[in-house]
Amino acid sequence: MIEFKNKILFVGYGAVAECTLPILFKHIKVPAKNVTVMDFENRAAKLKQWTSKGVRFVRDRVTEENMGTLLAKHVGAGDLLIDLAWNIDALEILQWCRDHGVLYINTSTELWDPYASGPNAHPTTKTLYWRHMNLRRMIAKWEGKGATAVIEHGANPGLISHFVKQGLLDIGASLIAEKKVKGAKAEKIAQLSAELSFNHLARELGVKVIHCSERDTQITDQPKQVDEFVNTWSIEGFREEGTTTAEMGWGTHEKQLPKLAYQHKDGPRNQICLARMGINTWVRSWVPDYTIHGMVVRHGEAFTISDKLTVWDGKKAVYRPTMHYAYCPCDEAIASLNEMRGYNYKLNENQRIMNDEITGGADILGALIMGHDYNSWWVGSDLSIEQSRKLVPHQNATTMQVAISVVAASMWMMENPAEGIRVPDELPHDYILKTAMPYMGRWISKAKDWTPLQNRETVFKGYNKPDLDLKDPWQFKNFLLTDDAG
Ligand SMILES: NC(=O)c1ccc[n+]([C@@H]2O[C@H](COP(=O)([O-])OP(=O)(O)OC[C@H]3O[C@@H](n4cnc5c(N)ncnc54)[C@H](O)[C@@H]3O)[C@@H](O)[C@H]2O)c1
Repeated sequence: MIEFKNKILFVGYGAVAECTLPILFKHIKVPAKNVTVMDFENRAAKLKQWTSKGVRFVRDRVTEENMGTLLAKHVGAGDLLIDLAWNIDALEILQWCRDHGVLYINTSTELWDPYASGPNAHPTTKTLYWRHMNLRRMIAKWEGKGATAVIEHGANPGLISHFVKQGLLDIGASLIAEKKVKGAKAEKIAQLSAELSFNHLARELGVKVIHCSERDTQITDQPKQVDEFVNTWSIEGFREEGTTTAEMGWGTHEKQLPKLAYQHKDGPRNQICLARMGINTWVRSWVPDYTIHGMVVRHGEAFTISDKLTVWDGKKAVYRPTMHYAYCPCDEAIASLNEMRGYNYKLNENQRIMNDEITGGADILGALIMGHDYNSWWVGSDLSIEQSRKLVPHQNATTMQVAISVVAASMWMMENPAEGIRVPDELPHDYILKTAMPYMGRWISKAKDWTPLQNRETVFKGYNKPDLDLKDPWQFKNFLLTDDAG
């Protein structure tokens, strides 16, 4: 347990924060009276067991107008701000925290009004890539690192970056142990692994594509009602990221841009985006032990992982894997999305995040690393609702994976308080995984002989024309579900 004598402010007390607070007290010795929770909704009843111990609840809303004055009432130099709200402008709050020496963590990079640019704005301006470039421009003007701020450190983005690193090391070790690689190649893999040189290691292993593949199998005996959106985490957050452009880290092995693709003009140009919603862009993926259809919902990991795994030769990217999310949410959310499509993407007013009404299932979340000698390798967490409830009662497996990640990164920040802005890939994966492991349920890291071309027979063979590359299974077009593939 580490000790923290300063103050902690939670902004937002929704699904993730509710799960984070008890875990924080398990791992960090901080007086309850030093912790303040802020939410514009009345969370007093939910917080009773904590406020009775000294935690303070403040009912207020952080807005563009009041941000500085409101935050200054609760945190100052050396304190920690945990941002688990939605739609607080990341650049503005990061600048404020830097100016005031406040440690800061969030789980996604957001804007005051993500819908402000309207439908006519160019797709590239709607991307997370765009937000990251603005962030880089802001940081470039700073002198010195400043107080540590970790951005996008939930489950995905967040833990997934550490899963990928662990997976690359495991693939290398397994290839060597099974003598599938020998001689100079085995030595090189061992050396790159020892140096934690992950971009060169990924290249040496032959990795072409990485999915953050997730299947949420949590089910309930209280099904979604007509006109109700049901999910296992933020409904507003899901709608925001799901109804905008699908974004992908774009691999150097890809031969052809997909339809509706747009490229960026500046920065590392490691991503593309589609003029098509993430929730309507479906790909084949795999979780232990079956194929899933997942959605390319845009996420920070598609930017940071593909950026950090790029190998550069001067200004030319000579190696980079394709990287994106392949999300198959819980059945209630799939039904909710389908209803929302019919409503032309207007969000239902009735919303429910499932907790105690969950009757079974798990959140299976990991990295599917593809293109190497095993074809595929899956590394990650299979956390059942029963295991999750034993860790923290009344929470679900999805928020648990996010919450432990927030706590693990907060601990790292307390021990490293002057590191400036960091993305998950810039934190030590072994430190985070060591803290997170007891919360991962069944930890899986194993090979699977899977490619997206397997079992891809179509019902109308000879009458339709699926656009597949049968010579190279790792082309994006082989993953993408299209109308002409049956
Ligand atoms: N990286 C990940 O793995 C991951 C996973 C889940 C959620 N998230 C993100 O974490 C955040 C929280 O998710 P959640 O599931 O707890 O959402 P939630 O909707 O359940 O809770 C958010 C809470 O914040 C409050 N809030 C929103 N804006 C506020 C503001 N300006 N001031 C004060 N309170 C405010 C809301 O009233 C709500 O109670 C979201 O941004 C979501 O996108 C990230």
